[in-house]
Amino acid sequence: MNFPALKNDRLLRAARGEEVDKIPVWIMRQAGRYLPEFRDLRQKYDFFTMCQTPALAAEVSIQPIQRFDLDACIIFSDILVIPQALGVHVEMKPSVGPVLEPLVEPEDITKLEVPVNVNEKLGYVAEAITLTRHKLEGKVPLIGFSGAPWTLMAYMIEGGGSKTLSKAKAWLYKYPDASKKLLTILTDAVVDYMIMQAAAGAQLLQLFESNAEYLGPDLFCKFALPYIRDICKRVKTGCASVGVGNIPMTIFAKGAHYALEELSGSGYDVVGIDWTVDPTEARNKTGGTVTLQGNLDPCALYSPPEQLKRLASEMVQKFGKTKYIANLGHGIYPDVDPAHVKILIDAIHDVK
Ligand code: CP3
Repeated sequence: MNFPALKNDRLLRAARGEEVDKIPVWIMRQAGRYLPEFRDLRQKYDFFTMCQTPALAAEVSIQPIQRFDLDACIIFSDILVIPQALGVHVEMKPSVGPVLEPLVEPEDITKLEVPVNVNEKLGYVAEAITLTRHKLEGKVPLIGFSGAPWTLMAYMIEGGGSKTLSKAKAWLYKYPDASKKLLTILTDAVVDYMIMQAAAGAQLLQLFESNAEYLGPDLFCKFALPYIRDICKRVKTGCASVGVGNIPMTIFAKGAHYALEELSGSGYDVVGIDWTVDPTEARNKTGGTVTLQGNLDPCALYSPPEQLKRLASEMVQKFGKTKYIANLGHGIYPDVDPAHVKILIDAIHDVK
């Protein structure tokens, strides 16, 4: 595909471990409810209608780029489009969050529509990516993403968010074989989905293992890490075979501080960390092999401006300027003042 030349490649340089003039910064969930322009559109459309309409998804993806000096755009979508593609009914209820028709028994796995033809079921994401790439006019790179198998499995069994994930974790203890079967189905879908996104124009791919924090080292090594590894290997090979070349990949396993060594050796170029990990400790554990991404506490954005600047600068000093992508340690909250997002971005770029 012929896209406009990239003018700002800081994110991709940092992901590859190359020197940068300024530290690249983007914000997880930057396309979302803290922006009044997003809320205006969202009043008119259902959440998944917005995801499924490429012109709307592209518009929302670009909203934060028009407002701020960000170094990357992320495609507007959701991790739950994979369960949808498997035939699960998913709704996004305002002030509740996602509601899914839950898997209750291992036999329910047979109801899933497999294998998933991602081009047929999720082709709208590919279209949105291609359109967004054109609309960006090469200003910044475009990030594609997917949920990781364990995180998706947890939503599918819980039927939505949960404080404990006790239903999903019960499967890991009671039905380890059925759990692995489900994780394999999800892995196959995620691999095809990410390759489709790269072929459509995504320039970096991030895998969200947001529910890693509920697993300890043992469960993580059995039920999350093998699939995370497999996805990276298969997506990189698959991208090469569709002529996309070596696309950088990021793993963000929220709460998996116990597995930083394993994650840094799992094939990904970038490891995202949440705010509970000290940057210096993360560097020590990952041994300088990978680029790190993160990890400001999303609540730090509630600080008065001078304090926010100081927190940003302290974080950056600890990570260092190379092999680093500045971000929050998790998604931005809806009640954050957009003016504070600008203060954060500028403070990061001002670091010499
Ligand atoms: O980062 C971006 O700006 C791109 C878009 C994006 C969304 N969801 C849009 C969204 C991305 C990357 C996601 C990922 C996602 N979705 C994750 C992984 C990241 C994380 O936060 O851990 C997860 C776990 C989900 C599932 C999900 N989607 C939940 C739990 C919720 C409800 C809670 C919430 O934060 O709103 C959503 C809804 C959602 N996804 C919204 C947006 C803009 C708000 C929906 C609305 O307008 O009602």
